[in-house]
Amino acid sequence: MCGIACLVGNKEATKHCFDALEKLEYRGYDSAGIACLINDSIIIHKKQGRVDNLKEFAQNTKSNVVISHTRWATHGEPNEVNAHPHMSQNGNFALVHNGIIENFKEIKQELLDKGINIVSQTDSEVALELIANACGSILERLKFATKRLKGSYAFGVLDKKSKSIVGVRKSSPLYVAKTKHGIMLASDIICFKGIAKSYYLIEEGQFIQIKNKRVIIYDNELKVITPKFTKIEELEFDFCKQGFEYHMEKEINEVPYVIEKVVNEYSDRHLLSQIKNLFENVQNIVLIGCGTAYHACCFGAKVLSNTLGINTNAYIASEYKYSNPIITRNTLGIFVSQSGETADTLGCVKLFKEKGAKTLSVTNVIHSALVKMCDISLPVFAGAEIGVASTKAYVAQVLVLHILARYLKDSNFKFEEELELSKKAKEMIYIQDEIVALVKSKSKVFYIGRGFDSITAQEGALKIKEIAYISAEGYPAGELKHGTIALIEKDTPVIVFATSKRLLEKTMSACEEVRSRGAKIILVCPKSYFVAGYDFKIEIPDFESEELQSILSIIPLQMLAYRVSKELGYNPDKPRNLAKSVTVE
Ligand code: M6R
Repeated sequence: MCGIACLVGNKEATKHCFDALEKLEYRGYDSAGIACLINDSIIIHKKQGRVDNLKEFAQNTKSNVVISHTRWATHGEPNEVNAHPHMSQNGNFALVHNGIIENFKEIKQELLDKGINIVSQTDSEVALELIANACGSILERLKFATKRLKGSYAFGVLDKKSKSIVGVRKSSPLYVAKTKHGIMLASDIICFKGIAKSYYLIEEGQFIQIKNKRVIIYDNELKVITPKFTKIEELEFDFCKQGFEYHMEKEINEVPYVIEKVVNEYSDRHLLSQIKNLFENVQNIVLIGCGTAYHACCFGAKVLSNTLGINTNAYIASEYKYSNPIITRNTLGIFVSQSGETADTLGCVKLFKEKGAKTLSVTNVIHSALVKMCDISLPVFAGAEIGVASTKAYVAQVLVLHILARYLKDSNFKFEEELELSKKAKEMIYIQDEIVALVKSKSKVFYIGRGFDSITAQEGALKIKEIAYISAEGYPAGELKHGTIALIEKDTPVIVFATSKRLLEKTMSACEEVRSRGAKIILVCPKSYFVAGYDFKIEIPDFESEELQSILSIIPLQMLAYRVSKELGYNPDKPRNLAKSVTVE
């Protein structure tokens, strides 16, 4: 969360930073700000709310040394005072920060005791004053500060005296590139789209200084090092909405093409052949992720344990990390993440590395920290996902995990049903108006199912919560009667996923239980099932495999969340309180 873009370049640096901030807005949109060096003074302009509020300033302000920020608030409410950049009390430095300083209270007290004023409620300003009140060059000050700071950070600091920008990072990402507008430091390489040929991910412990259009990288002892830049190639920077009103709608519409891409990329097996050794001697498998990615982990755990007969479990990263987990050299960690940047997930990878355990990532962003940290990575080929709610990436993640399980069982398996999936997915991008009208008129909705469907239920519920702000529970159908059924009232919408023939009767009895208590039933089931007892039906195509049968059923529910959000007047791409990448614990 939070996006940083800093540039030392031509006089239009303010405008170019603004363009970069727009691309970074997926990382947070509580406030945005720019600091620039003009005639030996640092000028700051910041506003609560969207990056667009900076447009006029960015277009009319000439400067060639600029730092900028888009914020997802962690410490302090999202107002102008707490917005970044922060200016040091002595006016010599401005700072932008992505991350959380865990020991900021203790340092703040020390600074206050010395008579140093702190005006905002943020941890970031404390870090800035620590730097401003240290001694030596800006690099020495930064080195001193990072020794004191605990937590995660990517900093961009504008130093008035040296007319330079310096940076450092721990856990949060920070990339540098020589762009056609100058040298840019940014939280994501999407900022370099079309303006740079290569980038460098600053390593933890390194320092960077950009001065006079030159970039110098230092190790932790401030010795100059020669960085190896990575070529930017074939990265899918697809930001336009292609005629759709919102990114989310476009991204749901892309699901069939993503499925086709995954099937094509994996059918020649070169990606899969690298993982065979990884599974040798593995005694237990742990899948770890957050939010939607965690739901994909639940799906993966089911398919892998069904296929391999190995003890396989899914965990929420933030819980797993602090649960004293038993990790041995024979434990395989599979880390699922769209962004490859989620702090909790990365924290778990570190734990696995410390124990010498094996690591595999299933990621959409191939240049991410997660890919760099894991032994092997399986890309999901979903392309850029801009909408905060994950849609196409989820489908791609579960499909890759399904393919992985099939390959481990039989490396020569034929992609037959999988090829059908893409064609059939096209029929699923639809939701009846009556269902939208019902759900949008309610304050709560339930999603239930058994087996794979209980995972889809949780994912469906997460979608409607995060973008339409409707209370929703995703529940295993058989568990409802143990308490939650008390919440069912007349006309409460209950979305019943019944895609498994094996579990159909059991699921339908749960459906009957809620129907007899007045619920309105929205049944999601294959065309060929003859079932009664519903108010609305969403038909899905028939498949032999139980897991493939379930995969497509999330698509209409993604559409439902999208349409309800839109019709209630919200912005489905940028739901309140959320950010696309959660880079803090
Ligand atoms: O980038 P990641 O997949 O690691 O992100 C994990 C979650 O933050 C993410 O899936 C989140 O739950 C989505 N907003 C859900 O739509």
